[in-house]
Formats: sequence, structure tokens, C-alpha cells
Amino acid sequence: PSSVFAYEAGVLTLEGVSLAAIAEAVGTPFYVYSAGRLRERYRALATALAPFDVDIHFAAKANSNRAVLAVLAAEGAGADIVSGGELARALSSGIPAAKVVFSGVGKTEDEIAAALRAGIHQINAESYEELHLIDRIAGELGLVAEVALRINPDVDAETHAKITTGKKDNKFGIDADRLARLDNEVKGLANLKIVGLAMHIGSQILSAKPFLAAYGRIAELTRELRGRGFDIQRLDLGGGFGVPYENELEFSFDDLAAAIRTTVGDLGCRLSVEPGRSLVADAGVLVSRVTLVKDASPMQFAVLDAAMNDLVRPAMYDSHHDIVPVKEPVAGVQAVEYDVVGPICESSDTFAKRRKMPPVAAGDLVVLATAGAYGATMSSTYNSRALIPEVLVDAGRFAVVRRRVTIEEQMGWERLPDWAAAPAL
Ligand code: LLP
Repeated sequence: PSSVFAYEAGVLTLEGVSLAAIAEAVGTPFYVYSAGRLRERYRALATALAPFDVDIHFAAKANSNRAVLAVLAAEGAGADIVSGGELARALSSGIPAAKVVFSGVGKTEDEIAAALRAGIHQINAESYEELHLIDRIAGELGLVAEVALRINPDVDAETHAKITTGKKDNKFGIDADRLARLDNEVKGLANLKIVGLAMHIGSQILSAKPFLAAYGRIAELTRELRGRGFDIQRLDLGGGFGVPYENELEFSFDDLAAAIRTTVGDLGCRLSVEPGRSLVADAGVLVSRVTLVKDASPMQFAVLDAAMNDLVRPAMYDSHHDIVPVKEPVAGVQAVEYDVVGPICESSDTFAKRRKMPPVAAGDLVVLATAGAYGATMSSTYNSRALIPEVLVDAGRFAVVRRRVTIEEQMGWERLPDWAAAPAL
């Protein structure tokens, strides 16, 4: 956990608030985020990028709780959205439409129309097919859409294959070599204006090297397209800045700034970035209670009340999350090796294999660290488990910012069919 977590009087606290006290009040499992840490991360990035004309559009998919969006909005953040749902969340959390950018390979007509009607800053188009779609919808609405072309720079992000997005065989963006056709493709598209280029090569990237390559490529393309008469004024440099989960070195925002300076710094473009993980990951943890410790010697299974439906990253990407007891371990205590698992009926419902940690017992609280990004937003209700609460801590207080949903409410979304009343088609 990051600097905002500390043991005080034998209990793990977040900004001085006892996680045991929150667990007492809201039950387990739950997510909890530090507003102070969100601000700290936002300011660190904003400070590093201050020499440039840069807008920070938070990638809402990493954590779209409206209270989190509101904290970042108050710092000046805009949003990178990928759905109509995220548009609604951003707008209702105090992020002005003028600071919203819409990414994604499969925006529907309704989503594009909603974004245009709201007057968002920019749509990042991912294909020529989508350019035509945006043009038609903007025409129907009597508007001119401001569009950036998302380019696939074909660079290796050097990260997990499932979160790589900037290689030629990924579905994202327009291949640079297809730009030869751009003049033909946009001829006659009177309801949109190509204002810039965009890119995003992947996530959890820990060095500036792939960015240097990708930004260099986008700088080349900017010069080329300008030479062909396109008025490229904006560059959206994407997100992807990694965070330490285990013992990786911290990604340096200063190295990022240096990469920006040497590649796109002198193009006179208005720049933007779309960070998700790097702003929220270490501001949040998942708090869970040990249901029981199953002795299956030589294995010990610590079974938690949280599961892969609450935090899917270990099951989906084999990702590492530190697991830390809420009660401060006794100094010098012998570590025990556990498989830390959830109760779901799948072997992949495993948070950690052969993890050495201080001994735990039934009833103990533990946190799964660095879970503020792609935690709650990727959760599901698998095994008919109800969605869990999210809590925000700020200046020594806590607030439940998403209440626990009951299984009755979730069942209420369903209906047993009344066939007699069903329309015959
Ligand atoms: N912009 C675009 C167009 C994206 O697709 C993404 C993430 C971001 C920005 C933000 O990337 P970040 O700064 O958070 O790396 N669920 C995975 C991560 C998937 C990322 C998808 N795209 C995980 O839990 O690791």
C-alpha cells in the first residue's frame, strides 16, 4: 500500500482512519479509496507535465465511482470515456463536457449522438468506418464533430499481452500505413473536422521507452499529415503509465515529460494524456475478512469473503496484489505460506498462490493492496454475489460512496415471464 496507509496503535489505517472501524460500520468485503492520495497522484502528474500545454483526461474505466471522479474533477481533470455510461457518470460528477474525450472501437450510434449532443471536446475515431458514422450522426444533429484519429503506432508496449493495444494485430486504431487513403476517406465528410491524432499503446507500462517510440512515431505522422494539408492541432498521447504492485520500480512522470519534450514538444500542438491506473491504483484497497483457514497440509488455504467477482485481476492477468493484515503483525513473527482464495467455484478464484505472509486466522481482516484501479469497475455478480460497497476517506473521515447492494435488489432486476401477456411476433 502507498504512503497513506500506516499502522497506528496496531491497526492499519488509511489517512488516519482505522480500516477495522470502517469494516465494523459497513461489513466486508468493501473497497476503500483515499481522496488525499488521488489528489497527490493527480498533482504529481500535473506538476511533471506543467511545462507543456497538457490536459489530463482521467480514464474513467479504471475507477468510475462518481465520488472518485468528483475528487479528480475538482483538481481540474477531464475524462476519457468509452461508453454512454461513462459519459453519464463523468457529466454527473462535475466534469464538464468540454473536458471529455470519447475513445473505443465500437461506439454505437446512440452513444455518439449522446456525446455530440452533450458537446464533448473530442471523439477519438478508431477506423474509417467510424469516421463515416460520426459524420452521418453529426449531420443529422446539425453539428460539426471534432475528431482525432486514433493511430496504431505498431510499437511493443512491453507489457502483459492482454493489455497491449498498440500492435498491428490489436483491434485498436488506424494503421499508420492506411493513412495514405485518408484524403479520399474524408472527402465529402462535411460534418466533422479532423483536429488531431490520438494513440494509446497499452497499460501497466513501466518504462518511458515504449512511449518514446510511440510519441516519436506520432510526431512523424503529424508532420506528414500537416504536409498534406491536414490541420493537426491536438495530440492525445493516451495513458498506460504503470504502478508498482510488488517490487517494480516506480514509473517516472519526469521521464514521461522528457519523452514528450523530445518527441512532440516542439510541434505547437495542444497535448493531452489519458491516465487511469497511475492516478487511482495505489489510492485504493479491497478489505476482506478471512472466513476460515483450511488446513490441507502441506497446503494452507486462507479463504476470504472477497472473490474473483470483486477483484478479477489475479484470475484474469495473474496479477500480483500484496495481501496485508489489518491487525499489525507481531514483530519477528514467522511467516506462513498460504494459497489465498475466494469462495467461488472455480480454481481461478485465487488471489495468491504460495504467498508468504504473517499468519492469519478466521475472522481476521486483510487488505488486497493496489486495488483502486480496475477493481470495482471490473466486478461482477458471479455466483449471485451482490456488488460490494465503496468507501471514500478524506481528511480523517469516511463516507460510503456506493452502498452495498442486496441480493433481493439484484433479483428484482429479473422477471419470471408471463407468457400469456407476451406479444406474439
Ligand atoms: N486510454 C485508452 C484508450 C485505454 O484503452 C486505456 C486503458 C487507458 C487510456 C488507460 O490506461 P491506464 O493508464 O489505466 O493504463 N483491466 C486491465 C487494464 C486495461 C486497460 C485498458 N485500456 C488491468 O486491470 O490491468
